[in-house]
Amino acid sequence: MQILSVSSLKGGVGKTSVTMGLASSALNNGVKTLVIDLDPHADATTGLSVSRGAGREAGLLLKEARKARLNDHAVPSGWLELLPPEKRKNARLDVIVGSALSATFDRPDIRPRDMKRLKTLVDGVSGYDLVLVDCPPSLSGLTRIAWAASHQVLLVAEPSLFSVAGTERTMRAIRMFSNEFAPQLTQAGVVVNRARADSAEHEYRLLEMERLYADKLMLPVLEENPHWQQIQGAAYPVHQWPGDQVRDMAKSFDELLRQLVPAKKLSG
Ligand SMILES: Nc1ncnc2c1ncn2[C@@H]1O[C@H](COP(=O)(O)OP(=O)(O)OP(=O)(O)O)[C@@H](O)[C@H]1O
Ligand SMILES: [Mg+2]
Repeated sequence: MQILSVSSLKGGVGKTSVTMGLASSALNNGVKTLVIDLDPHADATTGLSVSRGAGREAGLLLKEARKARLNDHAVPSGWLELLPPEKRKNARLDVIVGSALSATFDRPDIRPRDMKRLKTLVDGVSGYDLVLVDCPPSLSGLTRIAWAASHQVLLVAEPSLFSVAGTERTMRAIRMFSNEFAPQLTQAGVVVNRARADSAEHEYRLLEMERLYADKLMLPVLEENPHWQQIQGAAYPVHQWPGDQVRDMAKSFDELLRQLVPAKKLSG
């Protein structure tokens, strides 16, 4: 089971979008997946078509980490109902719902004991190939809780000056965190989101990212997609949305997923 935190210390760059794109790809490729929505805003929960009242929320489960079993509180994503029947049979996409309650753990001075709460929970989980943790945009308690439980951090960045600077800070933070608290933790790579082919600034920043991140820069780059907000607004998996431009985006997520999950787990 691969446990992956989707992070960036900068807000609004596409962490939740990448989490959802990968979840859609995983669903389409037979990869059994659990999404843990650790962001108090709970955007991933909404996007994965799960109502916020369903299942015990992430904040409560963190509180009861020693007693609770994640498997008992994982809620099936509404996306399953949108799958063609032949894909639905063995498909698994569950969600640990997010809620404002998890914000009580989002302190900068979180105690090491609290930092292990998600790790305790995922240590007891079974039946999934992949666990995706959608993180809030900071290096406060919740992101540390996510990283302490993860094998890898997938960084999301936009091709802009502030995002590149933010990604460098995040990479340093991961190195320091893994040295101090989580020796198992590595960087999966940097996914670039919302790139525009017609932007000279984006082209320049992409070249800069290639130079800075070398083999950590993940390809393909995800493009700005005019349908994306509509897809999210409809709480739809990108792989089930019609149209060539969206199909290309779905393929990009498939290629990214292939780099993150062992080939034997992909059946699609
Ligand atoms: N490739 C894309 N094309 C078009 N719009 C996008 C794309 N990726 C993300 N967006 C839009 O950008 C906004 C921010 O994306 P998202 O919520 O995924 O970012 P985030 O990093 O999770 O934000 P936060 O830090 O608030 O959690 C959303 O409205 C989303 O629909
Ligand atoms: Mg988000």
